[in-house]
Amino acid sequence: MDELARFRLDGKVAVVTGASGGIGARTALALARVGAAVTCAGRSIERLNAVVERIERAGGRAIAVEGDMAAKADADGVAEAAVESFGRLDIIVNTVGGGAGTALYPAHEYPESEWDRIIDLNLRTSLLPTQAAVQAMITAGNGGRVVNFSSVRGQLGIDNGFSAYVAAKGAMDAVSRQWATEWAKHRITVNSIAPTFVRTAQSESLLADKAFYEGLLARIPLHRIAETDDVVGAVLFFCSEASSFVTGQLLTLDGGLTAAQ
Ligand SMILES: NC(=O)c1ccc[n+]([C@@H]2O[C@H](COP(=O)([O-])OP(=O)(O)OC[C@H]3O[C@@H](n4cnc5c(N)ncnc54)[C@H](OP(=O)(O)O)[C@@H]3O)[C@@H](O)[C@H]2O)c1
Repeated sequence: MDELARFRLDGKVAVVTGASGGIGARTALALARVGAAVTCAGRSIERLNAVVERIERAGGRAIAVEGDMAAKADADGVAEAAVESFGRLDIIVNTVGGGAGTALYPAHEYPESEWDRIIDLNLRTSLLPTQAAVQAMITAGNGGRVVNFSSVRGQLGIDNGFSAYVAAKGAMDAVSRQWATEWAKHRITVNSIAPTFVRTAQSESLLADKAFYEGLLARIPLHRIAETDDVVGAVLFFCSEASSFVTGQLLTLDGGLTAAQ
């Protein structure tokens, strides 16, 4: 057995939702660089095109598909575009999500409209494209990989107004285990990655608050936050043959934050 070859994805086709964002763009490039053809999905076609160009410059294959992943027709369209362009669909990585830095309210005053918005932004946007992708995987009968981006906030409370985000990520951890259980019979694995802060546009506003940033570093044993490069190893492991006997798991990628709680 060639150990490194088990991490390669030659001949595989991946969808990355939220490929316009920090973690999604880095994930799309990583998958392409180990051989996958990548369908980059999101709402901003300009940013998706920039990711596709970067992949092509690196010698990879990718397409951009514009759509709202909280809308069923658009989510279905992403899986259809992947199959139409590349002939199959083996992997979906869900990176759409957020609200940690922008929807902060005391728990007893959390606005109903914001609750619904953040739950949909983090959960519906994973449910709908995953349903479409897994339907294609089941039909093809070749197995598959689903990787969800959760957060340490699925496991940990924080005194900072995160109610809806914490609820959404906790639910994502639960539904990932459920999907893993239901889809194992189709040889489709489902795993999640739960980072603490990763330096992206989404985390920028909170990290700009010096007191918050210093408090955060003080709680992380490795004494830094993650860069998008830090998620690559976990993504490639869960998307490849290397993880073929791993399903329903949550990999916490947090510099030791949860270990120290
Ligand atoms: N960064 C962190 O510190 C951190 C920590 C823990 C977990 N996470 C999780 O990791 C994931 C990725 O985070 P990130 O920092 O890379 O976020 P990001 O840079 O904001 O990327 C998310 C992308 O999704 C797109 N998007 C939002 N709503 C969408 C929708 N309905 N349909 C299609 N695309 C949509 C956003 O673009 P538009 O809004 O312009 O469409 C954005 O490009 C999220 O689930 C986040 O909760 C992040």
